[in-house]
Amino acid sequence: MQFNTPRNIRFGRGSVEKLKNLVDGKTLIISGENVWKNVKELISLDSPVVYVKRRRWKEPSEDDVKFLAQEIISHSPSTIVAVGGGSVIDSAKLAWIFYEYPDIQWEDIYSKISKLRRNTKFIAVETTSGTGTGVSAAAVVTDEKGKKRGVVSLELIPDVAIYDSNLVMGMPENVVIYSGMDALGHATEAYTTNVDNIIGDTLALKAVELIYFNIEDSVKGDENAREKVHHGNMLAGMAFANSRLHLPHAMAHALGGRYKIEHGKMVGMALPYVLRLGEKCCERFASLARMFGKGASQAIWELQDRLGFPHRLRIKEEDIPLLVEEIINDRLLKYYPCKVSKDEISKVLYAIREGDLDEI
Ligand SMILES: [Fe+2]
Repeated sequence: MQFNTPRNIRFGRGSVEKLKNLVDGKTLIISGENVWKNVKELISLDSPVVYVKRRRWKEPSEDDVKFLAQEIISHSPSTIVAVGGGSVIDSAKLAWIFYEYPDIQWEDIYSKISKLRRNTKFIAVETTSGTGTGVSAAAVVTDEKGKKRGVVSLELIPDVAIYDSNLVMGMPENVVIYSGMDALGHATEAYTTNVDNIIGDTLALKAVELIYFNIEDSVKGDENAREKVHHGNMLAGMAFANSRLHLPHAMAHALGGRYKIEHGKMVGMALPYVLRLGEKCCERFASLARMFGKGASQAIWELQDRLGFPHRLRIKEEDIPLLVEEIINDRLLKYYPCKVSKDEISKVLYAIREGDLDEI
């Protein structure tokens, strides 16, 4: 067994100010304009700095990544700093691969990534509380067929991660909810995979506790609660980097790609249904109930009710066989802890279509 994580993690209020001590040589900062405006006032960098800013970042396509890679290559930095949510950091991670290997093909990236860090080190400053990508080994991209693909490699774990809770205080309510549901998915899935990693499990359980018991107050604007959710997101990211994810994320890849639904919203929607399926077959799921005082599926369903989070998605009936194929072939399925059949996945899809947890 092993456990991999950034070699240095800075966290807590004001921790982004340490950035000036962490960069070397020519530094390229990749961020959103508004986010960077907030961060710029907190730090003064002595190194030569160039910026790649966008007014709005979206979950990246292969073309978006290649375009960003060209910008990175034209600046040839020795430190890349990605400041933002999952879309920014994932875009930067994937473009970094092309900076290190300009001739690499997407199929190579999807199968195996060679050693990075020949040209630059990579620092992630995560400014939402959901993806955990600042500490994780993953990045998500939409391929040319419109399918979301997870790229996973230990090489993609940033060298340094910064989780400054001051940076998440201004998140809009829907971002707090959707990214929180993504993080709750990371934590519960990492705990229930078939990867028996004691460090990952410990972090995952603490993450479930921090996110589940604080997200409602965080949504209401309570700063301490928001900081706890941010820490929960960080721990969940470290957990799933090592213990992996399973069915809710596989479903989010297929459904999110087809119906253009944000990642966190789709993970959150799938989560209680998959937990209900798992509770029927696997002790790992049932043991989460000790923390919630009831089944995890029921507890998270009720939490989502209180947050006004949707339970139902209009899945077209004719899409279901194809979706089942995509989900069963997703690489994450091998980490699901029990045997899962096409019929069971289809049942979950029909239940989401009806918005009825008891159909599982
Ligand atoms: Fe996720």
